[in-house]
Amino acid sequence: MEFFKEIQSLKAFLSQKGNSISIGLVPTMGALHAGHLSLIEASKRENQLTVCSIFVNPAQFNNPKDLEKYPRTLNRDVEMLKNSGCDAVFAPDAKEMYESEPTIKFDFGELDKILEGKFRPGHFSGVALVVAKFFHIIKPTIAYFGQKDFQQFKIIERLVTELKFDLQLKSMPILREADGLAMSSRNMRLNETERKKATVFYQSLSEAKKLLNSGKKISQVRDIVKQKCESVDGIKLDYFELANVENLKPTESVTDKTILLIAGFVGEIRLIDNLLLNEN
Ligand code: PAF
Repeated sequence: MEFFKEIQSLKAFLSQKGNSISIGLVPTMGALHAGHLSLIEASKRENQLTVCSIFVNPAQFNNPKDLEKYPRTLNRDVEMLKNSGCDAVFAPDAKEMYESEPTIKFDFGELDKILEGKFRPGHFSGVALVVAKFFHIIKPTIAYFGQKDFQQFKIIERLVTELKFDLQLKSMPILREADGLAMSSRNMRLNETERKKATVFYQSLSEAKKLLNSGKKISQVRDIVKQKCESVDGIKLDYFELANVENLKPTESVTDKTILLIAGFVGEIRLIDNLLLNEN
C-alpha cells in the first residue's frame, strides 16, 4: 500500500496509473472502524484502485475543543488499511490542504440550516470544501460515504450536481455494534458508562419506528423519545425528527420515503444516528 502526505506525490502516482483506471475514494477523518472498512471493501469490489483519505478537517469543526479531542490513530489506521487491501492512503497535514485560512464558503440553502446545520453552523461548508478538494485532487470514479452522516451525503450530492463533478456517489449502510450503537470514530471517546448510555439513541429510533408504524403521531413520538433520552443521566438530546429522504424537510406522515434522525450528547461527546423507515 502506498502512503502519501503530499498532493503532488499522490497526483504523480495516480497519473502513472493512466486515465482509464477506475478510482474508488473513501474519504475519512481516521480513527477507522469496521464501517469504514466496509466502504473500502465496496470500493475494492467496484474499482481498479482504492484511495482512502485520512484528514481531520479543521474547517468542519465549529467547536475547537471537539477538533482538539477528535481521536487520531494514524498508525493503527494505516495497519487496518494495509490489511483491507486498500491501494493508497492520502494523509495530508492541515497546511497541505489549506495554505491559508479558507475564505470560500458554501451555502446550500435550507439544507445546511436544518438538523445538524442548526446545531453546527458552518460545519457543512467545511465538509463541502474539503470534499471538493479531494475530488479535484483524486478525480475518483466513485466516492463512498456512510449512511450515518445522512445529511452530509445530501450536501455532497448537491455539491456534485452544482459543481458538475464527473463522478458517482454511494451511500453505504450503517454498521452497528451488537447492542445497536452505530459505529462511529467518536465512540472511541466514550468511557464504559457512557458507552452503555449511548445505546439510547438507537433504541429511541427503533421504538419510534414501531410506534409510528402502529399509528402514533410524530408529535407524540417526539415527546416519548425526548423523555426516554432525558431520563438517562448525561444524555442531552439536540433533535429527533421525521424527515423526507430527498430534502430532509420535517414531515408528519410516515412513508417509505421518510427517515428518522437523532442527535445528542452523551456527556461531552456528540453522536448522531438515523433509521430509514423502509429498512429494518
Ligand atoms: O464523514 C467524514 O468522515 C468527514 O465529514 C469527511 C467526509 C471525510 C470530510 O472531512
